[in-house]
Amino acid sequence: MLSVEGLQAGYGGARVLFGISLEVAAGQLVCVMGRNGVGKTTLLDTVMGVLPATGGTVTFEGRDVTRLRPHERVRLGIAYVPQGHETFPQLSVLGNLQVTLEAATHRDPAALEEALEVFPRLKPLLKRRAGFLSGGQQQQLAIARALVTRPRLLILDEPTEGIQPSIIIEIEEAIERLHASGLAVLLVEQYLDLALRLADRFVILDAGRVVRAGAAQELHDAEVRRLLAV
Ligand SMILES: Nc1ncnc2c1ncn2[C@@H]1O[C@H](COP(=O)(O)OP(=O)(O)O)[C@@H](O)[C@H]1O
Ligand SMILES: [Mg+2]
Repeated sequence: MLSVEGLQAGYGGARVLFGISLEVAAGQLVCVMGRNGVGKTTLLDTVMGVLPATGGTVTFEGRDVTRLRPHERVRLGIAYVPQGHETFPQLSVLGNLQVTLEAATHRDPAALEEALEVFPRLKPLLKRRAGFLSGGQQQQLAIARALVTRPRLLILDEPTEGIQPSIIIEIEEAIERLHASGLAVLLVEQYLDLALRLADRFVILDAGRVVRAGAAQELHDAEVRRLLAV
């Protein structure tokens, strides 16, 4: 479904990604791991087109999307929840969801209900300003907003980072249900245990390169743990 080949990117003269290749098959959950600063966010930004690729290709459902703008990739069925649970803080919870609905190709208001079913905790908060939600609730809103577009591939960057444990469990369960319902997921996640529970496959980055990739069970290996140790 998603095929990344030899992807290169960086900031100004500084190269960060040195030819990353990975695949996400339809309905698969692939977890990208690696220490801080290895290029995980840069990879997702480049897959989404927020950052231009300086080399390599991104193919989605057989179509080369490497030169498309982020909103064009959204229209094709990719949704992205960036690191740091960004929402529109001045808008209500409902307003945040409606903004995405207006940008969605389908324009079907039922998509709001569907997204709220994934995070029922948001339902009593629809009129509250997003800026007044807890970090965990904002992360749930950020994911719900991405779901309003009815993506076939969901890209999540550290959705559990800095979030209270009770909400981490809810987010994990939501990702699990979405995956079980057939959604493909590309997830950046630092918690090994969570990756082990959720992922079909994993990719480990180090200094902008893939140093290991395989089936989730292999994450038990001592060598894999060494690659992830701080
Ligand atoms: N906006 C930016 N401008 C310049 N350098 C950046 C920028 N964002 C990230 N970097 C650098 O790129 C490298 C990879 O960062 P990042 O992709 O955020 O890593 P990760 O998500 O794995 O922690 C780091 O060395 C970081 O300092
Ligand atoms: Mg990051």
